[in-house]
Amino acid sequence: MFISLEGIEGCGKSTQIVLLHQRLLDHGMPVTLTREPGGSELGRHLRALLLHQQSANLTAHAELFLYLADRAQHVAEVIKPALTAGNVVLCDRFTDSTVVYQGYGRGLDPHLLDSLNQVAVEGCLPNLTLILDLPVETGLRRARKRNVLQDLSASEGRFEAESLGFHHRIRAGYLLWAALHPGRCAIVQADLPPEKVGVKIWSLVAPRLGLG
Ligand code: TMP
Repeated sequence: MFISLEGIEGCGKSTQIVLLHQRLLDHGMPVTLTREPGGSELGRHLRALLLHQQSANLTAHAELFLYLADRAQHVAEVIKPALTAGNVVLCDRFTDSTVVYQGYGRGLDPHLLDSLNQVAVEGCLPNLTLILDLPVETGLRRARKRNVLQDLSASEGRFEAESLGFHHRIRAGYLLWAALHPGRCAIVQADLPPEKVGVKIWSLVAPRLGLG
């Protein structure tokens, strides 16, 4: 079982993926928790490059190919071996982030990006994708506050610094892309207390794993 979590900046994915991880461990499930960009050794270098404010002059295509390089290495080195070993894989962002951010956000063709994703993942796609949805302003407020509190504004803040219009395209892109993939994608309302979001997520995951 391969589950990805997606959403706009500040949607609470990172909190929810940790909660879900713990809940699966409590049920005795073997779980691999990972993320993109940055799930492999190479990816950690790419993450630093991709998210730093100093990379503001990256072209849309350069950015795209760095995300795809991160993904190809991550799938081969981490995700495929974990799935082969029988683990549940929880991934904080995956292929949909590329379609939505580089496609709907930067203006590249989402369907071309879908094809390039297929090359990078070699058939390894999530069974379930949870898209945490909330108003852009709420998410950005949370994300910028977190970056200031954790002193990450320079090293991880490149996307949070994008225009409001960019972030509205990302939210709308997720909703559109999810509607095109109803069998795999589920939208989860995320402007609720974290425990409530966690209950909703568990109600979507547990039956698929035969857990009560
Ligand atoms: P996050 O790990 O804190 O969510 O930040 C990762 C950032 O990278 C986020 O702004 C979305 C962006 N991103 C893309 O633009 N394309 C991608 O393919 C991925 C995986 C992430």
